[in-house]
Amino acid sequence: MLRALDTERDRGVSAFEAAETSDDLDAAQVDVLGRKSPFSAIQKSLGSLDPEDRKRVGQAANDARSELQAALTARREALERLAEDALLHADRLDMSLPGRVPRVGSFHPLSIVEHELVEVFTSLGFKVAEGPEVEDDWHNFQALNIPPDHPARTMKDSLYVSVPGHPELLLRTETSAVQIRTMQAQPPPVFVVAPGRVYRRETSDPTHLPVFHQVEGLAVDEGITFADLKGTLEVVAKAMFGERRRIRLGPAFFPFVEPGCEVGVSCFRCDGVGCRVCGNGWIELLGAGMVHPAVLENCGYDSERSTGFAFGLGIERVALLRYEIPDIRMLVDGDVRLLEQFEGVA
Ligand code: FA5
Repeated sequence: MLRALDTERDRGVSAFEAAETSDDLDAAQVDVLGRKSPFSAIQKSLGSLDPEDRKRVGQAANDARSELQAALTARREALERLAEDALLHADRLDMSLPGRVPRVGSFHPLSIVEHELVEVFTSLGFKVAEGPEVEDDWHNFQALNIPPDHPARTMKDSLYVSVPGHPELLLRTETSAVQIRTMQAQPPPVFVVAPGRVYRRETSDPTHLPVFHQVEGLAVDEGITFADLKGTLEVVAKAMFGERRRIRLGPAFFPFVEPGCEVGVSCFRCDGVGCRVCGNGWIELLGAGMVHPAVLENCGYDSERSTGFAFGLGIERVALLRYEIPDIRMLVDGDVRLLEQFEGVA
């Protein structure tokens, strides 16, 4: 029996040490020390021995059990440590990994152009003015000398808003309405630029959107002349498209200016020769003119004392030309591949 105890002890210790997982160890424990194990059988048979042998074998069995228990506990602790180490290893923070660089994002090309234009004008002494996008008939049309039968008034061009108690509200068709609001709010001199969104009942195509942006400019003071308008626009064209740019003025009709003109800038690509971007060497940019005396009077200004110029420029158009974007709709269809190209451009 003593030999059997030795054998069981050695078998048990090696089984415990060989256990790779706590499940292995549980199985080994049942096998070596469980109720049906050879070790238990020896202990159960102690009663049949004579007292002298029972004492010796009993003592040896106790010693063997202690040894087995110690080996079991040592192995269980070792396995727990290994499991914990594995967990720590899996969870460890690798300080040598490079960090994740956050995307910088970008301004929309329209915002970039608008900021730049506003900056050029504020550097010339203009202040920024604002007006509502939902306008009334008087500010959007009548005060701008657009009579009731003017073609721009038809439902074809304008988007009317139905608000009970407020007939004739519409989404402003041009930022020129801000001219009126500004002059009503202050006496001359006035030097303002008004960037903002405008709405027209139009179907979009490669050069038109029903919702687009303009920058309006208005300068009113005593002694303002057409030469001031020309000089100001020249500075802006050079700032936006480069020092070599020239501008060209051609006659145009807008009810709120007299005389009125359309302003083109010499193409930044071909310098006025004619190319794929411009066609004939010039890029039409904006409408402008001397503020009509009737408009000044509508706002309470004395048109005998004050004169002024105004202009309205399409922001989308400047962005298309500057960045050679082939279709105006690309500016609004939200494709990040376009926007990504402006990362870091302020
Ligand atoms: C006007 O809106 C006048 N208020 C400009 C003006 C202001 C003239 C002050 C005189 C004095 P026009 O409709 O041409 O004019 O529009 C001005 C600019 O807006 C155009 O040159 C063009 O660049 C842009 N634009 C006009 N319609 C659209 C459209 N559907 N989509 C995108 N841009 C447009």
